[in-house]
Amino acid sequence: MANDSHLIDITSHDTYVERVPHEVFARMRAESPVAWTEEADGGRGFWSLTKYEDVLFASRHAELFSSRFGIRMEDMDAEETEARRTMMEMDSPEHTRLRRLVSRPFTPRVVADYEEVVRNLAREVIANLGARTEFDFVQHVARELPMKMLGRLLGLPDNDLDWLVSRGDALIGNTDPDFTDYVVDQTDTSDYRLLPFRSPVALELFEYAQIALEERRMVPTSDVLTALIEPNREGDSLDDMTLKNFFTLMVAAGNDTTRYTTTAGAQIFIERPEIFAALATMDDAQRKTLVDEVLRWSTTTMHFRRTVVEETELRGQTLRKGDKVVLWYVSANFDEEQFDRPNEFLAERTPNDHVAFGLHSAHLCLGAHLARLELRVMFEEMAKAWSSIESAGPAERFRSNFISGTKRLPVHVTWR
Ligand code: HEM
Repeated sequence: MANDSHLIDITSHDTYVERVPHEVFARMRAESPVAWTEEADGGRGFWSLTKYEDVLFASRHAELFSSRFGIRMEDMDAEETEARRTMMEMDSPEHTRLRRLVSRPFTPRVVADYEEVVRNLAREVIANLGARTEFDFVQHVARELPMKMLGRLLGLPDNDLDWLVSRGDALIGNTDPDFTDYVVDQTDTSDYRLLPFRSPVALELFEYAQIALEERRMVPTSDVLTALIEPNREGDSLDDMTLKNFFTLMVAAGNDTTRYTTTAGAQIFIERPEIFAALATMDDAQRKTLVDEVLRWSTTTMHFRRTVVEETELRGQTLRKGDKVVLWYVSANFDEEQFDRPNEFLAERTPNDHVAFGLHSAHLCLGAHLARLELRVMFEEMAKAWSSIESAGPAERFRSNFISGTKRLPVHVTWR
């Protein structure tokens, strides 16, 4: 199906400034679940998978749908893909090796030990508001906890964190002029095509990471960076370029995603004050259930892309070798065949096998346990501190076809 004129263009960054066009995805699921989609800006087009079942199938069959040729909608040439490769753009066995080397600090058991650190940081974030009752929730609350936690994990000084996160924002926000001077579809970024996110900002992060690595080689510490430098039990270790790419990936992938999901939670609490009121007396299991519904509802990373490596039939369509395939997580999460009443936010939804972190397959979000912990603790601390949260002005959304998020949310809170 081509994008006919009466349909909203799901590839345009501008489309998402107002809202996610859920009705378009619902129509695609019903009428053309495996749809050929034309791209604005001269892209070569791609297959859109909008059904939960098909997104699951593609995620679980990396031998047919590869990550190696890029995971963003826009195409990159071979040289560009090679230079910008992180673990996200790898298939097994290369991916398995790297994932094994970096996954230890992110396993459920290790992450459970971070709870106290996360709680103290969340309390610090709220305490830093002083007695203020009106503020931008994104800037003063949602942005703070993931940034501080990443600093703790990587053993970085507090004074550097604001700068680091602004660099991460410039990378992920490479389609929003509020976050970068190098907007990919509005300025000529061809000089930077070999850098992560096609941005010179990546060089600044590489430089910072190189210094941090050298410092730890001289004086090893107990943080994740030191652990990553050291060889594992099999004697395997990472080279500097891979380490720098992974560092950049964590700064970019771990911050804004958690920030925008936290903000989506606050928006739900504003719209549904009874949920915020109930939060104060929920137990941990109920809060975990609520967090997963916030994750499904917000689906902060709206899609990831794969490339067909072996001709495949799907729902009567022939997907040819080399075709791009976009897995619309934001559509799968609202698929009426998978979720009961998908267009309702159900705080107690169980089961809730959403795909906000990708699928239970090789590329499932490495930071999923950490993000869930941060969201649960932050929501709990907000409910302890405030008896209500209300809107104090218009919210503003991020300009991106990839990240769905609100970048400004003026709120009014009542302190307990
Ligand atoms: C609510 C917050 C988050 C969301 C919605 C999210 C979403 C995702 C998704 C959908 C993927 C799968 C990519 C694919 O299918 O190719 C992914 C992968 C990844 N995420 Fe997250 N993420 C979040 C938080 C984090 C955090 C806190 C970290 C690290 C500190 C992190 C690090 C990563 C990494 C390293 C990968 C690549 C995994 C691989 O390729 O094996 N993410 N994330």
